[in-house]
Amino acid sequence: MPPIRPWLLILVLAVTAGCQTPTATPDDTLYQDLGARSGIADVVEELLYLIVDDDRINRQFRGLDVASFHRHLTDQLCQLAGGPCTYSGRAMRPLHAEMAITDTEFNALTENLVLAMERNGIATGVQNRLLARLIALYPEVRNL
Ligand code: HEM
Repeated sequence: MPPIRPWLLILVLAVTAGCQTPTATPDDTLYQDLGARSGIADVVEELLYLIVDDDRINRQFRGLDVASFHRHLTDQLCQLAGGPCTYSGRAMRPLHAEMAITDTEFNALTENLVLAMERNGIATGVQNRLLARLIALYPEVRNL
């Protein structure tokens, strides 16, 4: 094997560094406004308590793996808000299709999410910005 020449290594590093195209800084404002991942995790925890107490939807959640749901929903909301998380749960459409979720149930869950954010001191404007992104998932959750 030929000896490694330090100047060649430096040249390669300099060229590859120069090749990196400047990318726009990702907009993580909403993620920050929600209190980063720990703030979002708190909201999801509160949401879980609210779901358990809500007779409109709690039957759907019987036998839930709480830890896994908490982690996946937190990651999903974090990613949706522009944070550095990657959702690694199941695909939304097939997962929710078998539950035959109604609009009333969808609205009940949204109501609980708003209340969970409220209880965690998230400002109304910030809540609405998250809801605006979440609505994109409506057709998948309702299997439309
Ligand atoms: C925008 C609305 C919704 C979003 C973003 C959402 C998101 C999620 C996510 C991320 C998971 C975890 C997936 C995984 O662990 O692989 C999940 C699971 C679940 N969702 Fe939703 N969901 C929504 C609406 C609803 C509604 C309205 C209901 C019922 C009222 C519902 C019932 C469930 C249940 C029961 C599970 C657990 C399924 C299981 O573990 O077998 N979801 N959802």
